[in-house]
Amino acid sequence: MPIDKTPRIAVAIMAAGKGTRLKSKHPKVLHEVGGKPLLAHVIATAKKVVPAEDVFAIIGHEADLVRKAVESTGVRFVLQQEQRGTGHTLMVAKDALAPYDHVIVLSGDAPLITPATIERLRDFHLQKKAAMTLLSAELENPTGYGRILRKNSKSEEVKAIVEEKATNAQQKKIREINSGFYAFAVAPLYTNIGQLKTNNVHGEYYLTDMAGVFAKAKAKVIALKTANPGEILGSNTRAEMMEIDALMRMAKCRELMAAGASVFYPQTCVIDAEVEVGPDTVIEPFVQLLGRTRIGSECRIRSYSVIQNSEIGDRVTVRPGSILDDARVAADAVIGPYSHLRPGSEIGEGAHVGNFVETKKIKLGKKSKANHLTYLGDAEIGAGVNVGAGTITCNYDGVNKHKTEIGDGVFVGSDSTLVAPVKIGKGAYVGAASCITEDVPEDSLALGRARQTTKEGWVKTKRAAMLAGRKD
Ligand code: UD1
Ligand code: CA
Repeated sequence: MPIDKTPRIAVAIMAAGKGTRLKSKHPKVLHEVGGKPLLAHVIATAKKVVPAEDVFAIIGHEADLVRKAVESTGVRFVLQQEQRGTGHTLMVAKDALAPYDHVIVLSGDAPLITPATIERLRDFHLQKKAAMTLLSAELENPTGYGRILRKNSKSEEVKAIVEEKATNAQQKKIREINSGFYAFAVAPLYTNIGQLKTNNVHGEYYLTDMAGVFAKAKAKVIALKTANPGEILGSNTRAEMMEIDALMRMAKCRELMAAGASVFYPQTCVIDAEVEVGPDTVIEPFVQLLGRTRIGSECRIRSYSVIQNSEIGDRVTVRPGSILDDARVAADAVIGPYSHLRPGSEIGEGAHVGNFVETKKIKLGKKSKANHLTYLGDAEIGAGVNVGAGTITCNYDGVNKHKTEIGDGVFVGSDSTLVAPVKIGKGAYVGAASCITEDVPEDSLALGRARQTTKEGWVKTKRAAMLAGRKD
């Protein structure tokens, strides 16, 4: 029988910790950076190196919540019921990892690591036939990190890792730190992991102590120094987390700019990872583009607009202060300022939705306009319609929602209330301030308001009578 020499490689992601330093009731790995949970980023990266079924997320604190949040990624889960340290994390994964030759260990709170760096770590580990390979980094300020003790200054072999709290004055000066990413040969790992002790300040099993354990057992421990120390940042504190978020956001802005969009003052914009923006689109300062938003080319998205899960065609202008949620806007439309497009709003080509207009579950046809102070909900509005200022679709009767249908070319006068269900036929006119409760046939004029009465001279007479009766 031919022997398959391709090593079987798993990725284990340590994600069971509570994240005490965040002072949060939510598990650390579900805190969001760049618009999605820390752990989701690490999983996405892991899946670029090995198939999803070879990725194991080791979860513990609020395990059900964590599992639910990332279950759709197809990775597998290992439960670390009690969190007794990073060494313990791998102890509990023994059965899951038994079928593999090597395991790459990532940290659920360090989402900037790239597939290229993980592959470099893997290849170095395999090529050197090490029992343990760790990714190290040279930092200006190494405070807080575990320090690498090399066998001697030139050696690629490591004799131990000293955690910050256990360092002596001499060791504190070492600038080469443990990044928290490792590759292990599975067999020696589980032969030796029982040697880990908890005689440290935290009373935990430190995975970092495996370096010393292996060195004593004469197994090979090596360190690969990364050329990109920016990738190893972890989110131990809120401040670190926000720093990571800012780096991710800036990277996203750079990616969009490289693809031909302009983002002014990118440090003020919040753009999620999956957002797409076409060339020659301009994003002004203080814009948020969230979720699965797609924006076409040659658009202008003006300041203080927040756009979520929406699709926007080419040459659309979104004026300042508009909020779009689950909306679709066709080419050449103009939205805002201060429009609120709620879920299910479909705005047609060249249509205008203007100042203080709220829409929900509507279709607004080609070149139709609703420019001022209007609520349109559950409505189907044709092409070339003019919806006057202050128009309201009364879509709710207190129990159910009803539909308003407005045909092509209709003119709705200002301050009209359209009481649904109601239909206004093509080309009809609705007089200003009408309350429309009945269907309006095509090309007719509907007036639903009291006739004006004017009493000439009334004020003069009344005022004189009032003044005559005044007491002071
Ligand atoms: C760890 C390293 C340190 C290194 C640093 C790099 C140890 C003891 N120290 O410290 O040398 O410089 O990373 O960022 O490993 N976790 C579990 N189960 C547990 C404990 C932790 O899953 O029982 C998870 C945490 O959720 C976290 C990861 O392991 O995602 C790392 O733990 P953390 O407490 O953040 O370790 P550091 O103090 O950062
Ligand atoms: Ca950490």
